[in-house]
Amino acid sequence: MTPNDRQSEASGDGMDGILFNRKMAAADTHAPEDETSTTLLAKQGDLEVMLYRIGGESVVWLYPASDPDAIEFFFVHEGVVELALDDGVVSLGPGESFSVSGLTREIPVKMQGATQILYVTNCPAYESVSRFEESLSELLKRVNEKDHYTYRHSKAVLHYSLALYDAMQESCPAIPRDDLAVAALFHDVGKCFVPVEILQKPEKLEHAELRYILRHPVDSGRMLLPKFGEQIAEIARNHHERLNGSGYPRGLRTEDISLSSQIVAVADVFDAMTTDRGYNVVKTFSEAAAELLSLPEEFDTRITKVLSRLVTSGALEEGGAASA
Ligand SMILES: [Fe+2]
Ligand SMILES: [Fe+2]
Repeated sequence: MTPNDRQSEASGDGMDGILFNRKMAAADTHAPEDETSTTLLAKQGDLEVMLYRIGGESVVWLYPASDPDAIEFFFVHEGVVELALDDGVVSLGPGESFSVSGLTREIPVKMQGATQILYVTNCPAYESVSRFEESLSELLKRVNEKDHYTYRHSKAVLHYSLALYDAMQESCPAIPRDDLAVAALFHDVGKCFVPVEILQKPEKLEHAELRYILRHPVDSGRMLLPKFGEQIAEIARNHHERLNGSGYPRGLRTEDISLSSQIVAVADVFDAMTTDRGYNVVKTFSEAAAELLSLPEEFDTRITKVLSRLVTSGALEEGGAASA
């Protein structure tokens, strides 16, 4: 029976000790239908039963729990999930389930498309998961309302950053993929404080106007810090810093800029170079990748070499990110 079937059922009164939940999609859902959402179906003490809905291809991570008695149970209701374990990938479809207890390292779980998972845990997760989802949708909404270019750009930077992260393998930075994704998507959220006429001005900016732009990485970091912590805030704060100290806002050098922040910086400039912003010469993917590779004093060559390889192999489709 699908959630919609349940919604259309007539409601009954039941009896003491039985609680019916016929409207899964209503009050306790924290994201639009086509995005990720978590619905709390039942709760007693620390035990929570949730429906986890994922709108499309995505990766979530299972982390070792701090409580040794914690157990998490996942039942695949719809779609296919893939767990990347030490000895290979395990694929689970509708009707199959797995439980997690005593995990020693994080495990990526990949959803290939629309997926629904029944999630039961004795380690309360709903409040933090739903708060996290609310924070993300709220931030994204603010970026989009302010400036659609920044919204489109943010999604493109997310796309390029994750492609770089996935392809970097052994030189990959020590940050969970999901954290890099959050930082990439919200690196420019501080532009909320820049007047829209400055953001969209096609001509060269005046000195006073430029000061607004130069502040946005600081504001992005400040906005992300309380919600997501220092590792994510640092990436946003430093995405305009350059290895030789020529960047802004603080002119940091190599040793003070994380590799994750450099990945977002390369993705950020790559999108800016290859997108028509009304005042720039739009470069092809190959031209932009070659130019970034020719600037080792500014951009880490571990990243720009991977970018070149991805562009040459066609893994980053030209024009693909523009509609992402
Ligand atoms: Fe920026
Ligand atoms: Fe940006």
